Formats: sequence, structure tokens, C-alpha cells
Amino acid sequence: MKLAVSGKGGVGKTLVAGILARMFAKDGVKVLAIDNDSAMNLSYTLGIDEKTKENIIPIKEMKSMIEKRTLVKGGGPGVYNINPEVADIPDRYKVSGPDGLQLLVLGGIEEPATGCLCPENALIRTLLYNLFVKRDEVIIVDFEAGIEHLGRGTAKGIDLMLVITEPSQKSLDLCKKIIDLSKKLGVINIYLIANKITDESQTEIINQKIKNWEVPLYHSIPFDPNIAKADLEGKSPIDFNSNSKGILSIKNLYEKLKKLKKELFDI
Ligand SMILES: Nc1ncnc2c1ncn2[C@@H]1O[C@H](COP(=O)(O)OP(=O)(O)OP(=O)(O)O)[C@@H](O)[C@H]1O
Ligand SMILES: [Mg+2]
Repeated sequence: MKLAVSGKGGVGKTLVAGILARMFAKDGVKVLAIDNDSAMNLSYTLGIDEKTKENIIPIKEMKSMIEKRTLVKGGGPGVYNINPEVADIPDRYKVSGPDGLQLLVLGGIEEPATGCLCPENALIRTLLYNLFVKRDEVIIVDFEAGIEHLGRGTAKGIDLMLVITEPSQKSLDLCKKIIDLSKKLGVINIYLIANKITDESQTEIINQKIKNWEVPLYHSIPFDPNIAKADLEGKSPIDFNSNSKGILSIKNLYEKLKKLKKELFDI
């Protein structure tokens, strides 16, 4: 199953991606977590140890590797191969984390609006496609705030798109855009998840606001001070307190997704 997490900045994408990855891994499932955000902080939520973290080089920064693979023989500056060989990259550069999970840090993709048709973008896009289409483990991708950088080819391989919202209109507005774009790109299974909920009335208001959407609210995660505390200490929230209400709620989400996975893929 290929799972992607998206939403506005700061809504809890990394939290959901990281904790779900840990839960799949704890169950003995082979998991490859992908950090595709330029802030590159998924390693904290996953609970990757310091030493490993220090040695991670994001794929995007491997200039000479990218150069070699995108080089067009005899081509001048600006001429590069937009379909580079990438199949070996995940196994070569992934690092190991708790519960046997693995992490591959890509770094972000420049917005197409900046007009950057650079080799890094081409390589990362091809790599995402390869991860979605060719790999057999559970893949969980923590995306950058928008999903404009996704192409049709890349997005098609996504089995489940989790769109995260905070209880705010701005956040919901962006979710609507992400949902519409995901559909256009051919993603079929899209699920809306509310996070940082402080009381029931917020869920009711969200439900009211999205009543005409095709995508209903699938799950709500409460605001949990333990998650913020874990962040302050640089620890994974699941290692900090695995029984806090936020983590228990993500556990519940995980159980629902596991059932869904069975329904969608194991028949
Ligand atoms: N349910 C929650 N309860 C309390 N704090 C939370 C909750 N979810 C997320 N946070 C806090 O909100 C902040 C943003 O969370 P997170 O980094 O997961 O969001 P993000 O969407 O990945 O952000 P970015 O767009 O910057 O990558 C973090 O400090 C995190 O600890
Ligand atoms: Mg993040």
C-alpha cells in the first residue's frame, strides 16, 4: 500500500505520517517512510537515533550522484535526462529506524511555479514514481504543504491520500484544493482527517462546512499536549507517551486503515 499525507503547513502531516509508519512497523509490516518535505523533520517523529540522523544526506543534495544520472552524453549545460535510472536509490540510501522501519530522505521539490526544471526535481519525481509503482512495501510519504509538484504519473501510484486539516477555514480551503487536484491526478481513495481538535463542537462545524464535499471526515485526532512536549524534547511522540490521547487516536486511525487495506487490496 502506498500512502501519502498532505495538508496545509503545520497541521500535523509529519505527525500522522511518522506515527502511522511506526504502527505498521510495530505490526511487523515492511515499511519505507519517505520524507519529501524541504524541512526534513520526519526522522524526529519516527524516532531515528541521533547518530543515524546526523549522517543522513537528502537525495536532493547528492549533487554529483544526480549529475551523473541525469547527464546527457555530449549535451551542454541545461541538457539533461529527465528519466534517470533510480531503481537502486531507495535501497542504497535508506536508513534504519525503530521497529525495523526504514527511512529515505528526499528533500523537497521546488514549486513548478519557480520554473525550475532542474535535474534534482526530475530525479526526485522519477524516484517518487518508482517508489509508488515498483516497490512492494508499505510506503508512507510525508509531503510538502501543497501537492502542486505532483504529476499525473507520480500521483497515480498513490493508493491512499490522507488530507489533514486543523479546525480552521484556511486549512479546510487548502484541503479542498488538494482533494480536487488529487482527483484530477487520478487518486481514487482520499480521506480527510481533522487534527488538533479541542472539543466536539469543532468536529461538528467541520462536518457542517464539508457537507457538500464528496470526501467526508474520516477521523478526528484530539489536541494533545504530550505531542507538543515530545516535540520540545526532540523525541517521537510514540516513545514519549504511547498512551496519550493523540497517539491512541492515531492508533484507532491505524486500525481503520488496516481494515481498509484489506478491503481494497487483499481480495
Ligand atoms: N494533535 C496534536 N496535538 C498537539 N500538538 C500537535 C498535534 N498535532 C501536531 N502538533 C504539533 O503541531 C506542530 C506541527 O505538527 P507537524 O510537524 O506534524 O505538522 P506538519 O503539517 O508536518 O508541518 P509542516 O508543514 O511544517 O511540515 C508540531 O509542533 C506538533 O508537535
Ligand atoms: Mg511536516
